[in-house]
Amino acid sequence: MDFNLTEEHLMIRDAARDFAQTELLPGVIERDEKQEFPNELVRKMGELGFMGVMVDPKYGGSGMDAVSYVLIMEELSKIDASASVMVSVNNSLVCYGLEAYGTEEQKQKYLTKLATGEQIGAFCLSEPEAGSDATSQATTAEDKGDYYLLNGTKNWITNGGRADTYLVIAQTDREKGHRGINAFILEKGMKGFDIGPKEDKLGIRGSDTHTLQFNDVKVPKENRIGEDGFGFKFAMKTLSGGRIGIAAQALGIASGAYELALKYSKERKAFGTEICNHQAIAFKLADMYTEIAAARHLVMAAACKKDAGENYDREGAMAKLYASKVAMEQTVEAVQIHGGNGFVKEYHVERLMRDAKITQIYEGTSEIQKIVISRSVLKD
Ligand code: CAA
Repeated sequence: MDFNLTEEHLMIRDAARDFAQTELLPGVIERDEKQEFPNELVRKMGELGFMGVMVDPKYGGSGMDAVSYVLIMEELSKIDASASVMVSVNNSLVCYGLEAYGTEEQKQKYLTKLATGEQIGAFCLSEPEAGSDATSQATTAEDKGDYYLLNGTKNWITNGGRADTYLVIAQTDREKGHRGINAFILEKGMKGFDIGPKEDKLGIRGSDTHTLQFNDVKVPKENRIGEDGFGFKFAMKTLSGGRIGIAAQALGIASGAYELALKYSKERKAFGTEICNHQAIAFKLADMYTEIAAARHLVMAAACKKDAGENYDREGAMAKLYASKVAMEQTVEAVQIHGGNGFVKEYHVERLMRDAKITQIYEGTSEIQKIVISRSVLKD
């Protein structure tokens, strides 16, 4: 199934595959263990155009389409989902958010550096008491005339320590509910903006996740994104595209695990033959292949809708819901096919299994995707 990919699509997919094999694979186990990811690798991903895939070249981006983006995400995620989550947040949430809704000044000042990978961004919506229920923002942004005064805490922020630019969602007028929420651009080092310790996570351990604290942070008025009260819709619109990226990440994790399981099953012998010759294993491979192919169709359908300029909220949520389920289930199967070796780090599948879980949680849990899909289909 080639989905009629163009020469350009195939070239960018191959470039991502080569980069993943030659640059990400060496050291991926150690990075997972030590919870680190060198800046040098982020810089290289920037040079290859992976940090601003869909951004207009006039702002330093690669000017590619969403299909190219999901191809890159799948290839990186087969090897290192920690790398791909950095790419995903920077592209889908930060660069997209700024390009679609930022002012020209904001784009010149922030987007150009983010799209080239010279800088990296973080998207700050979740809070200790507001994960799925995103309208219940406790972080406040008090309008002081020339500036806003930000106070509050954000949790589970991807790129939280590494980022230079932070898009922060906060409540300006509680009485207005979601219409009283705004989005702001913050810079690392602003007075009163503190970065908490790194979370010790089950998966995507190479990527850094932090709690952020805002204590009377003065944010200039020109750093607000969009009209007053646009912040919640800004978050929903950016997350909608983000879900396509995470769906592609889940697809990559699943297909990476499948490729390892297929190879292993052709090499490992038991009961006098390679284990792929036992129906118990062959049937697992058949299920894996089929479900991954189905997930790929949903991911590509969502990306194509985005490229066609149509609304993709439903398709992005469907792709994320299904691909993340496939990633979780099929990485468990890949471990099973590897038997005892699957439980050992050097075979990579245990890491993919741990990495898969977060795809059912971040950028909206599976339950949130079902809310988005059901609300959408009920309007049919
Ligand atoms: N596009 C535009 N507007 C949208 C929208 C969309 N996709 N979705 C909702 N809206 C609008 C609605 O139209 C409504 O506006 P009006 O009142 O003017 O009509 C407004 O937003 C409020 O919408 P809802 O009433 O539907 O809001 P809700 O409180 O019921 O919540 C929700 C909806 C889907 C559950 C939402 O809260 C949600 O998506 N929650 C999950 C949040 C999430 O994904 N968090 C992940 C954190 S980010 C992250 O993980 C990044 C990372 O680091 C990897």
